[in-house]
Amino acid sequence: MDESGGAEADRLSRVRVLVIGSGGREHALCRSLAADPQVTEVHCAPGNAGIAQVATLHRVTSTDPAAVAALAVELEADLVVVGPEAPLVAGVADAVRRAGVPCFGPSAQAARLEGSKAFAKDVMAAAGVPTARSRTCATPEEAAAALDEFGAPYVVKDDGLAAGKGVVVTGDRDEALRHAAACDRVVIEEFLDGPEVSLFALCDGTTAVPLQPAQDHKRAYDGDEGPNTGGMGAYTPLPWAPEGLTEQVMSETVFPTVTELARRGTPYTGVLYVGLALTSKGPKVIEFNARFGDPETQVVLDRLATPLAGLLLACATGTLDAFGPISYRGGAAVTVVVAAENYPADPVKGDVIEGLSDEVEGAYVLHAGTASDGDRVVSSGGRVLSVVGTGPDVAAARAAAYELTGRIRLRGSHHRTDIAAQAL
Ligand code: AMP
Ligand code: GLY
Repeated sequence: MDESGGAEADRLSRVRVLVIGSGGREHALCRSLAADPQVTEVHCAPGNAGIAQVATLHRVTSTDPAAVAALAVELEADLVVVGPEAPLVAGVADAVRRAGVPCFGPSAQAARLEGSKAFAKDVMAAAGVPTARSRTCATPEEAAAALDEFGAPYVVKDDGLAAGKGVVVTGDRDEALRHAAACDRVVIEEFLDGPEVSLFALCDGTTAVPLQPAQDHKRAYDGDEGPNTGGMGAYTPLPWAPEGLTEQVMSETVFPTVTELARRGTPYTGVLYVGLALTSKGPKVIEFNARFGDPETQVVLDRLATPLAGLLLACATGTLDAFGPISYRGGAAVTVVVAAENYPADPVKGDVIEGLSDEVEGAYVLHAGTASDGDRVVSSGGRVLSVVGTGPDVAAARAAAYELTGRIRLRGSHHRTDIAAQAL
């Protein structure tokens, strides 16, 4: 190896990573990064009580592009990984890259795939991606006409970021109209029927590689009852998924989207989260997100055997083509979210969490909304913990996850008891 190659290899074998965010997804990211032999330091801002066990925390407002870029430079980070959508839409990845630090996360322009449903629909139409037929509506008259065009059940989506509260799916036309009236601009679309799948594609601006598909459980209560949430549990792999699903979604959706964004001069770097409905007419896109899904990431990263830092760095530096195949550990992972009393409406915070040091073989706890209060860990968000169970198959992973969930004590908390049950 010549000298510059040696220096490059040396640089890549001592990677300092800064992760932005504070949820269960970020705990999973930090945990996987800390387990990567290339990684010497993991930093996180702002983080939570669990992330503090695997990363050095920094008090930085995650949506402040200049502050995040300054922290990355100060830490001499080799890679910044942006977790949530709000910093991406605010331009954090742009600022980090301008400061000369490789960043895993799309630019503000490319993150509009999540930040604006109308933009996402426009890109999908241009790229020929299979998705629900839709209308973008700015007035009550337009909304009423679109509702009648597509019929019930009605799907009304706030055009902008709405922290999981922007979508109303209802059979009640008046409720659909009220939601449209409460938003500035909405996308109204045809209802897609079929099981939902989350597929994460890692993108480097010109090409992409898929991770293993997962399934989320979005409703708050068992049997898919109750209000929509950020996600109450997830599992991977999907034993029931049709053969060739990933390849089909890559060729019909991911590659055309990445190509379209590059053509527009806003190449997509980071993870493209494709939310799909497997309809009778094939997989169709329900939504794009510009980030890893939470809690799907917790299970997907658990099964990933390929060291994470090198993979994300290849995306951030546009070298994914040269990266070898991705490998998995086999078996399954299931995560159960422990949510605070009154989540998702108005979660109660500040309660002590007990049982965190209990051990169950093959299971562990990731923190989502937690904070340290002296030596105690207290709840500080709606989704408080993401308990992960693993095993040779979904049944074993599920049993491990629920056994450990049963050891956790948090006053008023609730969790679903049917995560991954359909897969059995
Ligand atoms: P989102 O906030 O975009 O993740 O949407 C929340 C949930 O609404 C999705 O996970 C779906 O369950 C449901 N949803 C969104 N769009 C549609 C659609 N066109 N047809 C059926 N369900 C949908
Ligand atoms: N788990 C759904 C999401 O991250 O949007």
